[in-house]
Amino acid sequence: MNFPVQFAYLIATALFVFALKWMNKPETARRGVLAGVTAMLLAVIGTLAMPGIVNFGHIAIAVVIGTAIGVPLSRVPLTAVPQRTALSHAFGGLAAGLVGTAKYYLWLGEGAGQLPPLRIVAISAEVLLGFLTFTGSLMAAGKLQEIIPTRPVTYRNQNLINLSLLGIAVACAVVLVLNPTWQWLFPIIIVLSLTFGVLLILPIGGADMPTVISLLNSYAGLSAVAMGFVLDNKLLITAGALDGSSGFILSVIMCRAMNRSFTNVLFGAFGAVAAKSAQKVEGEVKSISPEETYAILEGARSVVFVPGYGLAVAQAQHAVRELAELLEKNGAEIRYAIHPVAGRMPGHMNVLLAEANVPYDQLYEMEAVNRIMDTVDVCVVIGANDVVNPAAHEQKGSPIYGMPIIEVDRSRTVIVLKRSMAPGFAGIENLLFYKENTRMLFGDAKATLQALVAEFKAT
Ligand code: TAP
Repeated sequence: MNFPVQFAYLIATALFVFALKWMNKPETARRGVLAGVTAMLLAVIGTLAMPGIVNFGHIAIAVVIGTAIGVPLSRVPLTAVPQRTALSHAFGGLAAGLVGTAKYYLWLGEGAGQLPPLRIVAISAEVLLGFLTFTGSLMAAGKLQEIIPTRPVTYRNQNLINLSLLGIAVACAVVLVLNPTWQWLFPIIIVLSLTFGVLLILPIGGADMPTVISLLNSYAGLSAVAMGFVLDNKLLITAGALDGSSGFILSVIMCRAMNRSFTNVLFGAFGAVAAKSAQKVEGEVKSISPEETYAILEGARSVVFVPGYGLAVAQAQHAVRELAELLEKNGAEIRYAIHPVAGRMPGHMNVLLAEANVPYDQLYEMEAVNRIMDTVDVCVVIGANDVVNPAAHEQKGSPIYGMPIIEVDRSRTVIVLKRSMAPGFAGIENLLFYKENTRMLFGDAKATLQALVAEFKAT
């Protein structure tokens, strides 16, 4: 590899590392995205400048096809970003799988000498992880888009069957390492990997898909690492390792935020448990009008907004900021409480609120806001449900028992903005709605917030 290419790769690697670091904080997130895009551009230019590239015609065709698919994909609404991300991982996995397959047959044509054990190990890992990421991610995207049933599909001895399938695929790869010219094994590995990807996702409920997508992200990264070894490309190895480890860390963070273990997410069939454990709830639901809500908010000195998935659906981020500004002028202290798994993807609420220019210093993490919850006059829950459900503390049999929540029920008054009594993503009843200090303000979140803004402006 010549010096300019090596240099471009080095800068790209550094920028990828900084991109991850900067994306950690809302203040530097934009810079992080820019660094990531620049790194990718450098990586592509560096690769195109390599002497081994002989057919620019084929590359141009791939660029046209990629652009035709990529541009519409980039225009999906924010609520559909998780499934869009799953599709990106599917393409990454497919690319790794196809590159590994092409390389195996190319080297096989050049003679067994081209296929030393280490190379076959790398190719097998790439193909196995690549193809299982491909079908697994397609399944995850299908579940999130509700093209296929979101509930967990379970059957007897499921885990045993799935793990045996993976075991056979790995055994085939080991035999291929020992006998690199036994090419009939290669299609078997591909079919087993594709099937394993489907079976891995079948028993996982829709509510766990964001965590699974993050895990598939990690698999895609690992297959890129293997591809880097196959193609002898150091940038692929480092970028893949960053992708693989960050995806894994993110899945761990999400599991912790839900107080669930990895094995529970992967093998626990979460949605099925939720359906079985539905219980009768004691208490009375009390609804409230926008006029009555105004009267409560007007006298409040400390207000916490708790956004959830419904805020994204209603696109109510600008309306909430407008109401918050009016409350601030009225003398109230404003905070926004962010639960780590509110919405449908990591950072979902931060992105929405940043879009509406909500000041970063008003955003509070769950632990910080819970510490001061007893002093809060009013909590306004906007389209959040599971992340404020006291069943996590009070109902031992509940599927979310033990999950850390934003403890809005400890504030003086809770106002919940949602359209109906429908459950959240986990599919379970919310004990908060029946609490003495809770009032339900039914309606679309944006329309309701706009009605409250109108009340304030009218006085
Ligand atoms: P959810 O529990 O899914 O509840 C969202 C609520 O929004 C629903 O109850 C719905 O009630 C309401 N809603 C929908 N459209 C609305 C609209 N236009 N106006 C007003 N309300 C509306 O949301 P959450 O509290 O944010 O919890 C997130 C869930 O996703 C959790 O179960 C979490 O474990 C899961 N999850 C998230 C992640 C990440 S990374 N975010 C990862 C893994 C799992 P109505 O239909 O009655 O309006």
